[in-house]
Amino acid sequence: MSVAIVSTGSCIPAQRVSNEELAARVDTTDEWIRSHTGIGSRHFAEDGQTTSDLAVKAALSAMERAKIGPLDLDLIVVATATPDYFGFPSTACIVQDKLGATNAAAFDINAGCTGFIYGLDTAWSMLQSDGRRRALVVGAETLSRIVDWEDRATCVLFGDGAGAAILDKSDDYGQRGVLHSWLRAKGSGSKSLYLRQPERSSAYQRDTSYDRPVKVEMDGKSVYMFAVKAITDVMEALLAKSGLSLQDFRWIVPHQANLRIVQAAAKRFGLPDERFYMNIEEYANTSAASVPIALDELASKGQLQPGDLVMTMGFGAGLTYGGTIIRW
Ligand code: UT7
Repeated sequence: MSVAIVSTGSCIPAQRVSNEELAARVDTTDEWIRSHTGIGSRHFAEDGQTTSDLAVKAALSAMERAKIGPLDLDLIVVATATPDYFGFPSTACIVQDKLGATNAAAFDINAGCTGFIYGLDTAWSMLQSDGRRRALVVGAETLSRIVDWEDRATCVLFGDGAGAAILDKSDDYGQRGVLHSWLRAKGSGSKSLYLRQPERSSAYQRDTSYDRPVKVEMDGKSVYMFAVKAITDVMEALLAKSGLSLQDFRWIVPHQANLRIVQAAAKRFGLPDERFYMNIEEYANTSAASVPIALDELASKGQLQPGDLVMTMGFGAGLTYGGTIIRW
């Protein structure tokens, strides 16, 4: 019995903002953003469009390709750092309702940019038990709503979008499926990347800064150093666990945070940059959505075929990191 990824889908909002367009509103340049990150543009959700709206579009596309309906889903996992409601209800429950997936359990995962990887591991593990066959795993974000537009060091980095995968458990998939997963966290770094928000330290007193918007705070340099080590650790751990070598993989699909982070990992392993699939130039950093959007692009372009080996890696807020090996 294996749990295979049988289809993917994605939703890229139509509103595209190039670096030059951003530079008209923020004190930055196309040259700085490209040379420091590899980003050329990002897409933003329309006004009124929520994370669950993007998630549902990506999910419907994946479900259509898998030829399944909403009642076929036993589980919905939404990985997001930008839920429709901070706290509750979960975005997964809103997605469940919009899809009409009334047979499915639904919950969110908050593991920052590693969210989709954590979601895959969770769904894969939960599908091992009796009575569950199909899971929808979505990474979806509307980061444009939480970045600090006064902070040029962070606001140029992020974009909105969603990617989805359908996992199916069956004897029919032979060697295909999720083969290995490796997850870690480093909570001691939680304040290097976090969402500034009102203090909730006492029962009766409301924080006087309550009316200020929540916003992303990031210590870019320490996250950068963490990310380069994390991506290397994940790759080494997955290779050790699987006994595979990097030459066995058709694609290595990293979280799209910064081209330079991936280039540093490529150098460490003596690999050409082209072995890593990158689309950061178009979409920027879409956090939990970046890996499933990349997988969907590869699959849609016919560059991932059943039987291909793919390694995915994530790293981000938490701090969290991890990866999976999938035989497509
Ligand atoms: O998804 C996971 C989470 N995030 C990450 O993985 C991000 C990890 N960190 C990074 O990718 C990099 O640290 C950044 C891209 C965020 C920043 O790159 P950096 O090379 O570390 O730049 P810096 O923060 O050291 O800033 C260098 C200079 C500063 O000017 P001075 O002090 O040298 O005069 C900044 O003020 O660049 C300036 N700067 C900018 N200039 C133009 C910072 N942001 C910008 C900007 N446009 N957008």
